[in-house]
Amino acid sequence: MIAAYQATCQARVDAALQPLFDAPSPELQRLYAAMRYSVMNGGKRVRPLLAYAACEALGAPAEAANGAACAVELIHAYSLVHDDLPAMDDDDLRRGQPTTHKAFDEACAILAGDGLQSLAFTALLDPHLSTQSEALRLSMVQTLASAAGPAGMVGGQAIDLGSVGLTLDPHALAFMHRHKTGALIEASVRLGALASGRAQPAQLEALQTYARAVGLAFQVQDDILDVESDTATLGKRQGADIARDKPTYPALLGLDAAKAFAIELRDQALVAVQGLGESAEPLRALARYIVERRH
Ligand code: IPE
Ligand code: IPE
Ligand code: MG
Ligand code: MG
Ligand code: MG
Repeated sequence: MIAAYQATCQARVDAALQPLFDAPSPELQRLYAAMRYSVMNGGKRVRPLLAYAACEALGAPAEAANGAACAVELIHAYSLVHDDLPAMDDDDLRRGQPTTHKAFDEACAILAGDGLQSLAFTALLDPHLSTQSEALRLSMVQTLASAAGPAGMVGGQAIDLGSVGLTLDPHALAFMHRHKTGALIEASVRLGALASGRAQPAQLEALQTYARAVGLAFQVQDDILDVESDTATLGKRQGADIARDKPTYPALLGLDAAKAFAIELRDQALVAVQGLGESAEPLRALARYIVERRH
């Protein structure tokens, strides 16, 4: 079920993303090519999937979340381009291809990341992608800005870089992961729900509990895969966290306990959306997929 759902959603979001990379003038071709390269390169599209699934869980057509889906993938792609830079994780391989700063150059990668961030907000305001009322779109912009910014993903990345070589206690590690990865995943679910145009406060609360658990589980599984997967499957360098002495869940708890923790978070997510009925099946499938995935 999840593979078919994933394929449909990937095709939908890719079709919506593609035109955003048409350079408006010949002088900008290289910058736009770097942005296209960073996005249209076979990512799993987990965040768009979560946005579509949340929108559908509330009974609206998935297409209503096109702007939200594009926006969260654009922020995510920007975060990866910058995460891979020499000043940050210094990685050469991403999604099975050279990282953006390797395929282009560092300055171009920095600017491509900056550009992708702006395009994310443009997608939420583009009337073709986001047809919600102005008030709703304003609260979508607010949701994305706070999740992506210094109180969210950027803050988490700052903590990550400041934590190299340190042993964080469980509270500090969860705090870092919830910011660097969880915040954007929580925003993906909330944006999808808001995009439905029919989210009730109790539903938003249930979805927030779901997303908080799934957001942390996603990074726990990312840490686990860094230990037990391989570079070809991951499309990024296996063992990079260990090589860089990053605090991770397997380092803190051991591999088995980290896996058990991911399963516990999955179960918390499933409980949170119990009351949402049949339409939340894709969300449930995604919670399972996030801890079972091999890349
Ligand atoms: C990798 O994210 C970075 C993290 C936040 C853990 P994904 O595993 O979603 O990467 P892609 O988009 O599929 O390449
Ligand atoms: C990435 O975390 C989080 C963000 C990019 C915001 P990682 O540094 O663990 O991601 P990978 O493992 O390089 O994909
Ligand atoms: Mg990193
Ligand atoms: Mg990294
Ligand atoms: Mg990682």
